[in-house]
Amino acid sequence: VNSRYPQFRKGIEEARAVDPQRFEQITEMYLDWAMRARGENAIERCTDAFVQFTTEVNLAQVRYEAEGHYEHQSFDQLRADHYSDDQRMAGYLWGVYLTNYLWAHHMEIAIFFRDRFVQRLESGAHVVEIAPGHGGWGVWALTCASQATLRGYDISRSSIAIAQSIAGAAGVADRAAYKEGDALQLGVSGASSADACICCFLLEHLERPQECFSVIGRLLRPGGRAFITAALTSAQVDHIYEFRHESELYCMAEQAGLHVAESLSAMPRRRLPHARFLPRAMGLVAEKREPVAR
Ligand SMILES: C[S@@+](CC[C@H](N)C(=O)[O-])C[C@H]1O[C@@H](n2cnc3c(N)ncnc32)[C@H](O)[C@@H]1O
Repeated sequence: VNSRYPQFRKGIEEARAVDPQRFEQITEMYLDWAMRARGENAIERCTDAFVQFTTEVNLAQVRYEAEGHYEHQSFDQLRADHYSDDQRMAGYLWGVYLTNYLWAHHMEIAIFFRDRFVQRLESGAHVVEIAPGHGGWGVWALTCASQATLRGYDISRSSIAIAQSIAGAAGVADRAAYKEGDALQLGVSGASSADACICCFLLEHLERPQECFSVIGRLLRPGGRAFITAALTSAQVDHIYEFRHESELYCMAEQAGLHVAESLSAMPRRRLPHARFLPRAMGLVAEKREPVAR
């Protein structure tokens, strides 16, 4: 970044400033996995993808400020144009991979995930990851919970391939199984058996995010816990549902039988001048309520 994209250095320093020691640890972990998964030049290629993705997001936010709404409304359209385009998705996903901690507000969410969700995961937990994309969140959880197993479901073939490669790089491939499919179809007939569920940055990609909360509610056993994140008033090429208030996420979780135990809303350090929208990322730790006999 210093030599090729110096204009991105400030943002990365902001992310490091969130917690310099943890930043070093996460960087080492994420880049080590990327190098094992992608081989030579992995860091250069990931950096290119990160810069391209971040630039696209910034431009999308400028258009959103001008238009007042996100660009896309149709999930089917995005599925055809974006999620099914393997080459495009690969670049996109490696870019997203690094945003997990190279954007300061995402770094805050990553620490929240590690300290408030992963830390309390039982070692043999059965985890379901919805829309793993690159797979980084779930693989991180598996490296901390030594006997845990994970099933991941993503609509994009490219995501499945990258998530598998990251799980292999982290040495947890024997505990992680990924399958291509629409997450909204999950748990329709299955028992509520998952101990934990991870669903990061999918909700805003859906036309009806409430359906995804219902899936999480169906998958979890009573007392099971979920880590859920969403972007609010943050444009991106594949964002459809415009969350404006944190309370919307609380309401959707509650309607699905989930109790929000903790949450964190974080915002970028810099914004567009005179911006009318305040972009945020929100993380929730939610627990499926035990049925109460009254
Ligand atoms: C922004 S990426 C998030 C990746 C990762 N979870 C993260 O937080 O960095 C969105 C992911 O959602 C997946 N996706 C979109 N709609 C989906 C659906 N209906 N079912 C399963 N996966 C879906 C995409 O293929 C993509 O991998």
